[in-house]
Amino acid sequence: MPVNDSILQEPEVFFPSEAMSAHATISGMGAYRALAAEAERDYEGFWARLARETLSWHKPFTQVLNEAKAPFYTWFEDGELNASYNCIDRHVEAGNGGRVAVIFEADDGTVTRVTYDDLLQRVCHFANALKKLDVKKGDRVVIYMPMSVEGVVAMQACARIGATHSVVFGGFSSKSLNERLVDVGATALVTCDEQMRGGKALPLKSIADEALAMGGCEAVKSVIVYRRTGGKVAWSEGRDLWMHEIVANEPDQCAPEWVGAEHPLFILYTSGSTGTPKGVQHCTGGYLLWAAQTMKWTFDWKPADVFWCTADIGWITGHSYIAYGPLALGATQVMFEGVPTYPDAGRFWDMIARHKVSLFYTAPTAIRSLIKLAETDMKVHPDSFDLSTLRVIGTVGEPINPAAWRWYYEHVGGSRCPVVDTWWQTETGGHMIAPMPGATPLVPGSCTLPLPGILAAVVDETGQDVPDGQGGILVVKRPWPSMLRTVWGDPQRFSKGYFPEELGGKLYLAGDGAVRDSETGYFTITGRIDDVLNVSGHRLGTMEIESALVANPLVAEAAVVGRTDETTGEVVVAFVVLKGARPEGEEAVKIANELRAWVGKEIGPIAKPKVIRFGENLPKTRSGKIMRRLLRSLAAGETITQDVSTLENPAILDQLG
Ligand code: PRX
Repeated sequence: MPVNDSILQEPEVFFPSEAMSAHATISGMGAYRALAAEAERDYEGFWARLARETLSWHKPFTQVLNEAKAPFYTWFEDGELNASYNCIDRHVEAGNGGRVAVIFEADDGTVTRVTYDDLLQRVCHFANALKKLDVKKGDRVVIYMPMSVEGVVAMQACARIGATHSVVFGGFSSKSLNERLVDVGATALVTCDEQMRGGKALPLKSIADEALAMGGCEAVKSVIVYRRTGGKVAWSEGRDLWMHEIVANEPDQCAPEWVGAEHPLFILYTSGSTGTPKGVQHCTGGYLLWAAQTMKWTFDWKPADVFWCTADIGWITGHSYIAYGPLALGATQVMFEGVPTYPDAGRFWDMIARHKVSLFYTAPTAIRSLIKLAETDMKVHPDSFDLSTLRVIGTVGEPINPAAWRWYYEHVGGSRCPVVDTWWQTETGGHMIAPMPGATPLVPGSCTLPLPGILAAVVDETGQDVPDGQGGILVVKRPWPSMLRTVWGDPQRFSKGYFPEELGGKLYLAGDGAVRDSETGYFTITGRIDDVLNVSGHRLGTMEIESALVANPLVAEAAVVGRTDETTGEVVVAFVVLKGARPEGEEAVKIANELRAWVGKEIGPIAKPKVIRFGENLPKTRSGKIMRRLLRSLAAGETITQDVSTLENPAILDQLG
C-alpha cells in the first residue's frame, strides 16, 4: 500500500465543544464509560434505576429482567403504568399543562400550538369516544392517518384505554392496508378524508374503503374519519363516523387504564426477507423507558429545547421520537404535515429558523436531496437562514455518506452542532448505536458506540466474535427493555428470525453487517445481510415486491435486487420474465410502466421499481436457484467477473445486462 494511503484513510474526527460538554447530560467520555460500566456491573440494577427515574409507575415493579421463557424476555413484568399518563397527565399534574407540546405546521404553513392541557383534553375526548364504540383493552385499532395532531391523539387515546394500535403509513396501498387490518384483527380503523402534501390533496378514506371492501376484515366495526380537507368521501352509514362528531360531547376526563409493563402498546409492520411483512410487537414499559431515555442521552434533550423529528408517524421513528419519547419527557416539538420541497427546498431551514428548533432529526435521503437543490439556488441554501438555535442534529434510517455528513455538519449545524448518526430498527424500539453529543468524538460515516446498556457486537456465521477491523454480522448480546416482544401471531418467526439457532439462539440478529474499528471500537454499518432493501430510509423486502410482480397476469417470474443510488441510498431494480414473448422497444416501456403502477397499487408508491428489465429467463443455477449476486452486478452495470460456469443459461446475461 502506498504510504500516503494510510494518511488519506485516517478518519477526520470532530470533538464536542467545551460548551456542549459542560451542559450535557452525558458530559464526556468519562461519564459515558461510567454508565456503560454501571450496566456491566449490575445489568438489571442499571435498567431498574433508569426505569424508576424516567417513568411514573402506578404499581412499582419488583422484577426486572425475566429470562425464563427466552427469547421471549420480559422486563418490569409485575409493574403497572399507562403510557398516555406518562406522556401527558404527569406533566399537567406537575404544573406544566400550559407548556406547548406540539407546534403543528400544516402543508400550507398554518401553525397550530397544542399545549399539554389541550392534548390531555383531546386525548380524553377521543379515548372516551373509543370506549363508547366498544373498543376495549387489548383490542387492535389501525390508524391510517397523515402527519397530524389527530394521528398522535389517536395513538395516545389507544394507549390510554389499553387498546393496541397499529399505524399504517399513509403511503401504503389499499392492498397493504387490507393485509395489515386482517393480520392484526382490527376492530376499528381511524383514518382521514384526504391528506395534504406539497399543495396536493391525496385521498385516504377512499383507499381505506377499498381496503375494507377487499374482505377478511369484517371485524372492523367502526371507521373514524378525521376531516382534514373537507373533500368528498363515500360514507357507509352505521360504520363510518366523523371524528369531530363523536368527540363533541365527551367528558374532559378519562381515567387511564393501568396495564402491566408487558402489555402490547403497539404493533408496527415492517419488511423482512419473506413475502409478507411482520407485525413487530412492542410492549408498554420497556419501550417507553427507552424512547424517553434516548431523548435525554442521544439528543441531550433539556426542557428549553424545541425538538423536531421529520419522520412520519407511520414509521418507528415517528412512534419513538414524535408520539412517545418527546411527550414522555414533557418536551416541546414541531410536527410537520408537508414535504421538504414545498413551497421550496428551503422549507426545513425556514421552519427551523421560525420555530427556533434546537434539536433536529432527519433522514440522509432528505439531506442529500436538499444538498442538490441548495447547490443551484442560494435562496434555499441553509446558509441563507438563521439556524443559530440548533444544538444537536441527527440522522436515522440509512447510512450517511461522509460527504453528506460534512455538508450537514457545516451548513446546517454551523460547524458547531454534533451530528448524531443513530443506528437502530423498528425492532429495537429506540437508538442502539449512536454518539452522545457532549461526549463522543465524531467520525463521519460511523454511528460510533453502543448506548450504555446495549451490548452490540460483530460475530461470524457461527456466533463467534470476529476481530475488530474485520466485517461480520451485527448482533446484540443481551436483551434490552425496548426490544420487540414477538412477531404478532407468529412467535416462531420471532424466535427463529431474531435468535437463530446457528448463532447459538441467544444473540439478537439485527440483519445488518457491521465492522468495528480496532482502535476506537466504533461501529460502521455496512448494510443489510438479508434480502431487505433500504430506499430513502424505507425498508422494503425484495420478496414482497417479487410477490407483487408475479401477481400481475402478464408476469411469469420476477427477481428484485437493489442498486446503489446517490440520493435515495438504494433503488429497486426488477428483472422480469413475461408469460408472453420478451417485449422490446416501446412495448417494453409500456409494460414496464404498467408494472410500476401495478406495484404502486399492490404495495405503495415507495416500492415501485425504478428500473425493469425483461428477459426470456432469469440467471439460474442448474438446481434452479436464481443467482441474485449476479443480478446485483447486472443492476449496477458492472462487468461480470464472477464464475458463471454453474449457470444453466449464460446467454441470458446479455438480455438482462
Ligand atoms: O439497515 C439498517 C438501516 O435501517 C434498518 C432499519 O430499518 P427500519 O426498521 O425501517 O428503521 C428505520 C429507523 C430506525 C437497519 O437494519 N439503518 C437505520 N439506521 C441506520 C441504518 N443504517 C446505517 N446507519 C444508520 N444510522
